[in-house]
Amino acid sequence: MKKTLTLILLLGTSLFANVEKGKAVYAANCAICHTINGGNGMGPDFNMVAYSRTKEEIEYYAKDPYSLAKAFGYSANAMPTLPLEDQEFKDVADYISSLQPFKKWMIKKKK
Ligand code: HEC
Repeated sequence: MKKTLTLILLLGTSLFANVEKGKAVYAANCAICHTINGGNGMGPDFNMVAYSRTKEEIEYYAKDPYSLAKAFGYSANAMPTLPLEDQEFKDVADYISSLQPFKKWMIKKKK
């Protein structure tokens, strides 16, 4: 029983991306273009992005902005494709999503 619990805990922590790690990925790779507090950046502010996009959308856009720009409503793509690990994209998407912790609840309420 104890072993099963430990296993579940270990699996859980490795499957879920890490918000703190994501914050570091943001600071090192995104902050030059994206603000998180309504400032002026070359790319959209992440507080707003966290409102309008799901975690998956954020992850996929960060991975491949060139292919997704049109689908996201941009007429052209100016964001570079960044050479990060899959896990880093997951972590940074987790971090950006965490900027709006009540979004899920608000979306649910709208229905
Ligand atoms: C050199 C500047 C630059 C860097 C660095 C950059 N971005 Fe962007 N980003 C942009 C621009 C400009 C856009 C607007 C769309 C486009 O041009 O592709 C954008 C758009 C986005 C979008 C879509 C927003 C939306 O809701 O429409 C996401 C998500 C995003 N960036 C995530 C990231 C993440 C995560 C990182 C860091 C890992 C990052 N970006 C690094 C410039 C940048």
